[in-house]
Amino acid sequence: MRQKIVAGNWKMNGTPRETEALLKALVAAGRTPENCAMVVCPPYLVLHLADEILKDSPIMLGAQDMSVHDRGAYTAEVSAEMLLTAGASYVILGHSERRQYHAESDQLVNAKAKKALADGLIPIICVGETLEEREADRTEEVVGSQIGGVLAGFAPDMIARSVIAYEPVWAIGTGKTATPEMAQAVHRFIRNRVADLNQEAAETVPILYGGSVKPDNADGLLSQPDIDGALVGGAALKADDFVAIIDAA
Ligand code: PGA
Repeated sequence: MRQKIVAGNWKMNGTPRETEALLKALVAAGRTPENCAMVVCPPYLVLHLADEILKDSPIMLGAQDMSVHDRGAYTAEVSAEMLLTAGASYVILGHSERRQYHAESDQLVNAKAKKALADGLIPIICVGETLEEREADRTEEVVGSQIGGVLAGFAPDMIARSVIAYEPVWAIGTGKTATPEMAQAVHRFIRNRVADLNQEAAETVPILYGGSVKPDNADGLLSQPDIDGALVGGAALKADDFVAIIDAA
């Protein structure tokens, strides 16, 4: 049995006041599912505040990115150690918005994921094709190459300690979702690619789906055999919606 994970990617949303209101509502909802980890990934600045609010709750904390470096002259960067001391246990890496607006490559994402694992964070490593690539029938080629790149040099135990998120770029923030069948096909493909690296790790690594996951489509997506949870953007900013997705998982 693979563990399910529902993670909320708040992106650049969450002033202290908003953070407090949203997290208190999530805590008040009182979900303690045994088979599903609940994770929220707010902006760096409110991680400490979030950690305070969540300290007696089963909801875990993650960040949206991190530096590949330990410390030093890297203006505006945030290290794994800083995230850990702020209470984070997960970190999203290689999100398509980081790839698109900050030119992050598979190679950099790979280095960051290795750093996260070495320092004790669980990386949520994102892959996914653009609309153009899907329409050109290149989804498997693109996603396969991303998986090969981001997991390069991973020992089996490193794969097993990671989380993969399949997020088709055309479904992020657009209201367009992959159908459960479309998503399942790519999740299966990803698991097979991981199995080429290590069979056992492929069986245990959770693969999350992301891209316009909402309460009304979560059931269909999360009931697929190779979809082990969701990485949720917009709907993670509404307590009721996020809780409904957790309930679906
Ligand atoms: P969305 O974002 O749910 O708003 O589409 C998902 C993501 O970018 O992780």
